[in-house]
Amino acid sequence: MSTPHPAASNPPQHPRSSPQVPGRWRAAAAATGLLRADGSVASTIFAEMTNLAARTGAINLGQGFPDVDGPHAIKQAAIRAIEDGYNQYPPGTGVPELRRAVADHQRRHYGLDLDPDTEVLVTTGATEALAATVLALAGPGDEVVTLEPFYDSHAAVIALAGATHVTVPLHPTPDGFRLDPAQVRAAVGPRTRLVLVNTPHNPTGTVLTRAELQVVADAARSVDAIVVTDEVYEHLVYDDAVHVPVATLPGMAERTITISSAGKTFSFTGWKIGWLHGPAHLVEAVRTVKQFLTYTSGSPFQPAIAQALADDEAPRALAASLRDRRDLLCEGLVAAGFEVVVPRGTYFVVADGAPLGFDDGVELCRRLPDLAGVVGVPVSAFCRAPGAPGDVPDSPTTARALASRVRFTFVKREDVLRDAVGRLRALRDGR
Ligand SMILES: Cc1ncc(COP(=O)(O)O)c(C=O)c1O
Repeated sequence: MSTPHPAASNPPQHPRSSPQVPGRWRAAAAATGLLRADGSVASTIFAEMTNLAARTGAINLGQGFPDVDGPHAIKQAAIRAIEDGYNQYPPGTGVPELRRAVADHQRRHYGLDLDPDTEVLVTTGATEALAATVLALAGPGDEVVTLEPFYDSHAAVIALAGATHVTVPLHPTPDGFRLDPAQVRAAVGPRTRLVLVNTPHNPTGTVLTRAELQVVADAARSVDAIVVTDEVYEHLVYDDAVHVPVATLPGMAERTITISSAGKTFSFTGWKIGWLHGPAHLVEAVRTVKQFLTYTSGSPFQPAIAQALADDEAPRALAASLRDRRDLLCEGLVAAGFEVVVPRGTYFVVADGAPLGFDDGVELCRRLPDLAGVVGVPVSAFCRAPGAPGDVPDSPTTARALASRVRFTFVKREDVLRDAVGRLRALRDGR
């Protein structure tokens, strides 16, 4: 028998992720709480919880994607588009019928008047719209203000741009998670380049009121900052809540980039068709960056989404059904012993585990599959990590204030939610 070559028995050791690899990736990982002390990168809590659900057979209410696809007619439209030859690069700004459909949609719903040729840009989901906007308009030395908790890609692209992330906390109240106007004003200053607001808001389900948005708009205008709004849940609002696009506030259309996408509105999250609109000079700046990210994508899906946007009935029906599913899950969570802030928008609800004796949402989420056969994600994953650069130990950060809170999604079939609610009862019974 031959002796193995030394290199075969002792392969070179490649650390899973080298702290030596240079580049901005590290800033993106740090900004989203994924950079370990040894320089390696942790998987996201979403991936960890999804794996946990798969391993344990728990019901996954952690990740927010629908378990029922969008309208059959829209799928057929995409299939037809493939057969009709929409298979090569579409125009870099998006197919004209989709840009027109976005402009029509914004006029019909919000009274906004857009030129589809110069003021609308189709993107690879809202994610690319956010990335291209922040990379185009902010850089080192600039500050970008967001709400906190925040959707993780907001923090990541601010870091990739080399800008500084400043946050304004949302506070839990009986009337939802709300902004403190004084904190909005304090967060905005001479270095503020962008104010990025997300309404309806993931993860809290808050729909910012016109008055709250006016505070944001006034603060942005006072320092000549641009407002970027992430409105991907614009049609998923309940009860008496009304979605107000910032661009509809007096004088704001000229300094606002509005971002949305088809994923949540039509339950086609995998198609990644998004768009943005704003004044032509800002859209041109963003297009300049966007053309070097993906250039263009989703050729057959773009005309299908143009068709979807012309019909207001499907989103209305989805919102009505989600409202019922929200009620089902919220009642189940309360019956299980959680304290719940009832969301008026999105398909997420934030529940507090403290009344059940859990002060740490991360620990609760790791144990929930065993305790109740359900998976959620800790709200702290949407906050700046305690211990991140600049954190003062024991200071009142949003992550600490919301440490015991967990986000659950209700964009699952009613039978799945009933099963989850039944399982959650084990928490109360086990107390
Ligand atoms: C607030 C928010 N913005 C943007 C996105 C991403 O949208 P898209 O899938 O269109 O890129 C999501 C997805 O979860 C989201 O919650």
